[in-house]
Amino acid sequence: FWQQGLSKIKTVDEYIISALLPQDDALSSTLKANATSGLPAIDVSPLGKFLYLLAKLNNAKRILEFGTLGGYSAIWFAKAIPSDGKVITRELEPGIAEIAQSNIDNAGLEVKDKIEIRLGPALETLGQLDKEGVEDFDMVFIDADKENNSTYFRWALEHSHAGTLIVVDNVVRSGFIADKDNNAPTTLGARKVFDALKGEKRVECTAFQTIGLKGWDGMALARVI
Ligand code: DHB
Ligand code: MG
Repeated sequence: FWQQGLSKIKTVDEYIISALLPQDDALSSTLKANATSGLPAIDVSPLGKFLYLLAKLNNAKRILEFGTLGGYSAIWFAKAIPSDGKVITRELEPGIAEIAQSNIDNAGLEVKDKIEIRLGPALETLGQLDKEGVEDFDMVFIDADKENNSTYFRWALEHSHAGTLIVVDNVVRSGFIADKDNNAPTTLGARKVFDALKGEKRVECTAFQTIGLKGWDGMALARVI
């Protein structure tokens, strides 16, 4: 299996994309603009449509995202929710948020009106949302700095209702999660997510591995009981 190499795995991803993901101008120009601006190619493509389907299956109206990057997943989410829905997406870096905003603006009014970028350090943004008395979310996508993932997870849990779906990206990271000798901050961050999930009676959860254009990684899924 491994001898077949990553190139074959990538070919399959390309096959899936060309077969099942119709050309979407907003999404493909977002990826193009991100590449031109030198953003790392860590967008959720082609898992974007998977996240879109999860949002739809969960009838999500209000979605919170940690880690806007170029706005790629936020645009997928906006397409999944009804016109009175909202995607609040948090980004630390002003330069990155600017690129995301321009991608979102180019994605058309229907998308643009649903997405709100919150700029700043996560803990400040979360405090601000609390002060505003923000409504609970139907879905939360955690995809920012990996070190703080368990903090984001706990905050998400406090701003959820029965049925809220919490998704944590990048919890496998080329297998490092299960490598006892790997204690990189991002690996420790992913392990803390598993620790938080393990002891948490308020959710039903699993994690799964993904392989494709972005290499080998995985996501954790938790449904609030
Ligand atoms: C990295 C971050 C991501 O969100 C991702 O999906 C892949 C890689 C990273 O920081 O390396
Ligand atoms: Mg990610």
